[in-house]
Amino acid sequence: MKVIDARTDAARINELFYQRIPEAGLRNYWHPVALSREITDKPVARTLMGDAVVLLRRLGRVYALANACPHRGTQLSKGTCEFPGTRTLTCRYHGWTFDVGDGGLVAALTDGPDSPIVGKLRVRTYPVEERQGIVWIWLADSPPVPVEQDIPRGLLEASEVHTVRRIAKGNWRWHVENPGLGHATFLHRDSEYMRIVDMFGYATGIKAMLGVEGDDDEWLLEKFEGIGQDREYPGLGSWPRHRFGEVIKLTKFAEGPRGVNTIVSVKLPGIIRVSNFPIADSLYYEWFVQTDADHYLYFQVACAYPKTLMDRAYWLLRFYAWGRWAGMVRFNAQDLWMVEDSHAKAKLNGGVNDPVAGYRADGFQLAWRKYALENLRGAKVTEQQSDSLQAAS
Ligand code: FES
Ligand SMILES: [Fe+2]
Repeated sequence: MKVIDARTDAARINELFYQRIPEAGLRNYWHPVALSREITDKPVARTLMGDAVVLLRRLGRVYALANACPHRGTQLSKGTCEFPGTRTLTCRYHGWTFDVGDGGLVAALTDGPDSPIVGKLRVRTYPVEERQGIVWIWLADSPPVPVEQDIPRGLLEASEVHTVRRIAKGNWRWHVENPGLGHATFLHRDSEYMRIVDMFGYATGIKAMLGVEGDDDEWLLEKFEGIGQDREYPGLGSWPRHRFGEVIKLTKFAEGPRGVNTIVSVKLPGIIRVSNFPIADSLYYEWFVQTDADHYLYFQVACAYPKTLMDRAYWLLRFYAWGRWAGMVRFNAQDLWMVEDSHAKAKLNGGVNDPVAGYRADGFQLAWRKYALENLRGAKVTEQQSDSLQAAS
């Protein structure tokens, strides 16, 4: 494992970060966009990184196209399936009919079967794949890499995959920089989730380490050396105060971030992983897919690997009785509450919101910026995309 330390180089890294890591998101990667079961024969409209996209299923397969008819601009998500058993979508306005596989115009129904426009136009299509009940999309113009390359191994190999999704206000980059011990030991103290565990005051010797741990890919992991508890703050008194409720320790039932094996990590294109969250024996992942200039899709995925039916039942009981609502819904809502303000600060500040080098806990966020800059795929493609988001908002 390699220590990534960006603190001495913070100014240069922060400057490059805004040039190369666009607010619209990194197009040159696969991103989750919906659950497989949400995409049926009826078209669904989504805005992704500023692009209006329509998703639909034909003959069992999911397709994605630009959501605008080349004729008069009608949203193809208003369209119908006039020819069941074919992979076509018909625009609701004048009946132009497109092959959803390659986007080609195969008929203009209201101009007769011999319409001269047929074969002359094409709608943009986007590569889509389905893995683990999730629909993944490739938004770049360049040919896609195999989708497995961008899906963490812990998700590909999970036998339990459970998601929570919502549209959040803000920018994906601030949420990628949210996880870490600097906020976990303070922001979440009053959540139901943390109430039942004996939460420490602060972590010492926080380090960002790049490497593989357990059965997963390479991640930038947040490690720490020790903890501070019940310390005297000069002139103020002792902190943290002990709270009502923390004496109840349901450790095996609901063990979370306080559990010894809970490690937060991050990797490109801005995926967060937390082990043993929202309950023990889980791997938890988060994606942040920018939709328009002020919103992103917050896509949370809990994974588990039960070996027996009993294990599975026990995991599901803990997950649905506790982990999902207390962890993924309520605890993580506190993060959204903060990221919204990080975005507001950036908007007032020319798009800039930097980790602070003198605050030791921000070393992890600085390390993420350095790692992202050094490992970015196809930086050229991503640079163009800021303009497309601006234009769309
Ligand atoms: S706008 Fe789509 S067919 Fe006319
Ligand atoms: Fe958090």
